Amino acid sequence: MLNDYLSEKLYLITDENIYSLYSDYLTEQFQDFNCQIVVVKPGEQSKSFSVYQNIIEQLLKEKIRKNDLIVAFGGGVVGDLAGFIAATILRGVRLINIPTTLLAMADSSIGGKTGIDSIYGKNLIGSFKQPEVVIVDISLLQTLEEKEYNNGMSEIIKAGLIYDSILVAELLKAEPNELQFITRAIEVKKQIVTKDPFEKGLRQILNFGHSFGHAIEQYNNYSLKHGYCVALGMDLAIKYGIKHNLTKKNVQEVFYKLLKKYQLPTFVGDSNLYLEQIKHDKKHIQESLNFIVVTEIGKASIIPLKKEDLYDLSN
Ligand SMILES: NC(=O)c1ccc[n+]([C@@H]2O[C@H](COP(=O)([O-])OP(=O)(O)OC[C@H]3O[C@@H](n4cnc5c(N)ncnc54)[C@H](O)[C@@H]3O)[C@@H](O)[C@H]2O)c1
Repeated sequence: MLNDYLSEKLYLITDENIYSLYSDYLTEQFQDFNCQIVVVKPGEQSKSFSVYQNIIEQLLKEKIRKNDLIVAFGGGVVGDLAGFIAATILRGVRLINIPTTLLAMADSSIGGKTGIDSIYGKNLIGSFKQPEVVIVDISLLQTLEEKEYNNGMSEIIKAGLIYDSILVAELLKAEPNELQFITRAIEVKKQIVTKDPFEKGLRQILNFGHSFGHAIEQYNNYSLKHGYCVALGMDLAIKYGIKHNLTKKNVQEVFYKLLKKYQLPTFVGDSNLYLEQIKHDKKHIQESLNFIVVTEIGKASIIPLKKEDLYDLSN
């Protein structure tokens, strides 16, 4: 299948950890092609201006052409970075995505959002760029550390809570079917982004937990993983929803069961610390923020809020 999409020359972007595990796999998959491999440091720090600029200049020096292909082989960091490079170099070259983390398979590789971070916040520089194909090979998950696996579970839990009660039921089973829950999470994202590709309305529900999640990530200088921060953000959003009678109480019970099962954290501390960061969030439109609440399991709503409305959530 991969061969149907490959071009004469391809530039594969990955990170050091993945390359050290999968260099043989890559040699085997791409042996018939002129494939140049670009390896970045692992972690959020690679979603930066300097890494972006280095790679762009390297590819221009190599005389990349419009018909060449960029392959993102990695987690969400590699996917967002490589996608943004593919979106902007020569005003856009072809892209395929081969996600290697659970988070990337079930969420970040789908929907075309690409980008890098700024000192003012996460993903503030970016573009929409749809890959020609996303190839999900769940055997790649065998090498993923447990904390990275649980990190991906957070976005899968989110998909279920906002849109798919059957997915939530699957996740609650003693032995959930991995292929089934990944496929359902992909289907949730696919359905939502197909209806609203540029996040004018419905797609915003995918940001459930992300206003606080991104703020917590940035406040902690990206030392906490994205999915863990989204779990904390969902916790706060559910507390807000319950406090204002927008969220049914059983949502919180089910959510805590899932956090426990997938070893994700609950929020403790002062949520007010993050309100300044939230001001820079892209979900902020003028003075009001489109905050997402889950009303019942499998259903979400978009609520315009002022930043002040979010004070003292942890009390
Ligand atoms: N574009 C989107 O729609 C979207 C959606 C959600 C999240 N994101 C972004 O995704 C990023 C987080 O992605 P992530 O959680 O995949 O993190 P990541 O890309 O940093 O990968 C996590 C770690 O796992 C390692 N790794 C990757 N694949 C592996 C494998 N198969 N075996 C062993 N180790 C492996 C990596 O080297 C890294 O150390 C964040 O920047 C977030 O903003 C984007």
